[in-house]
Amino acid sequence: MIRYITAGESHGPGLTGIVEGVPAGLTITEEDIAHHLVRRQQGYGRGGRMAFEKDFATINSGVRFSKTMGGPIAMHMPNRAFKKDDAGWPTVMNKKTEAEGIEKITLPRPGHADLVGAQKYNFDDIRPVIERSSARETAMRVACCSIARQFLKHFGIEIGAHVLRIGSIGFDNWEQVRAIADPLAENGAEAVYKAADESDVRCLDEDLSAQMREEIKVRRKQGSSLGGIYEILVTGLPAGLGSYVHWDRKLDGQLAQAIMGTQAMKGVEVGLGFESGHRPGHEVHDEITHEEGSFKRRTNRMGGIEGGMTTGMPLIIRGVMKPIPTMLNPLSTVDMKTKQETETRYERSDVCALPRAVVVAESVIAPVLANAFLEKFGGDSISDIEANFKKATQ
Ligand SMILES: Cc1cc2nc3c(=O)[nH]c(=O)nc-3n(C[C@H](O)[C@H](O)[C@H](O)COP(=O)(O)O)c2cc1C
Repeated sequence: MIRYITAGESHGPGLTGIVEGVPAGLTITEEDIAHHLVRRQQGYGRGGRMAFEKDFATINSGVRFSKTMGGPIAMHMPNRAFKKDDAGWPTVMNKKTEAEGIEKITLPRPGHADLVGAQKYNFDDIRPVIERSSARETAMRVACCSIARQFLKHFGIEIGAHVLRIGSIGFDNWEQVRAIADPLAENGAEAVYKAADESDVRCLDEDLSAQMREEIKVRRKQGSSLGGIYEILVTGLPAGLGSYVHWDRKLDGQLAQAIMGTQAMKGVEVGLGFESGHRPGHEVHDEITHEEGSFKRRTNRMGGIEGGMTTGMPLIIRGVMKPIPTMLNPLSTVDMKTKQETETRYERSDVCALPRAVVVAESVIAPVLANAFLEKFGGDSISDIEANFKKATQ
């Protein structure tokens, strides 16, 4: 089974990742990984840091001649912010000595991990909480998950996401989204992200993209921030990944955990999701047909999962991201030291990170799907798995 762990702080020397359990013989290069890292850095509404961080993960172990060897894959990615001459991060983040005069951060931002993190770990300075809770860590998460993505792609399974809503601007209903996303997904879900990447807000509709940009502009001027809703499609999944037999083996539950484990994600829907609570059963469930020798569904409102298992239809998952907690226009808070009511102080931040966050969401579901695939067809090497997969699907 594939598992990964990341280490590193936002303004420390860099991020480290280890991916374990990847079968031997998978083709992977640093350039494959860089593809999604670059995508994570692009999008309207990004903050200043994205302009100078050019993320690249160096592979330090587990790969030889562009093929995995079955052992742990270790990666490192430097933080350029650490080396910026004027910022003083080597002093602020010094691993040995606390220099005199280092300012303690004592004004927690509502909506961030600041206050509860400081309470939990008994800090009188929020800096350590900011450093690890920050979404800078998602750069290494994307790198680690790119390897699982590559594994899925080897077996024809593709992932692609697009933005449905930013603030008050978005698609009106499920059918409108299906009409634009599903024809693209017929060529594999990567066609969805490739089309979405043409828009700097990663929305498939041109008019909505323009309105979303306007909405971000307005909120930026007001010193506020925005979140939104996105949809991930996965194509090429065979039927029967996951299981109904126990709560923690249901694939929809595992996918939700991966998305909810990502900074700022506040909800997940599978297929029609919450809208299925508004509709009668006949407008929700997908009728079963048998065509060209296999079972199909007339519609895909269940988003490709029934009973915690893939149906063989494309997977459709939606997630909601809350607006960014760091805003130019302050919110009320309390100084942790003086206990006096005051206002938050601005730190460099995005206005709307959703167009970038969709790349993170695409990525984090990859190890979950890869593990469900390995559970059914697993082996120690790609050739073992190919043989198992072929036998099961012939
Ligand atoms: C890709 C991405 C970028 C983010 N950028 C920022 C940011 O620039 N400023 C900020 O305050 N929060 C940002 N966030 C959100 C915070 O990391 C998140 O709200 C915080 O860690 C608290 O966690 P929670 O929202 O899950 O409770 C970002 C999240 C993601 C996924």
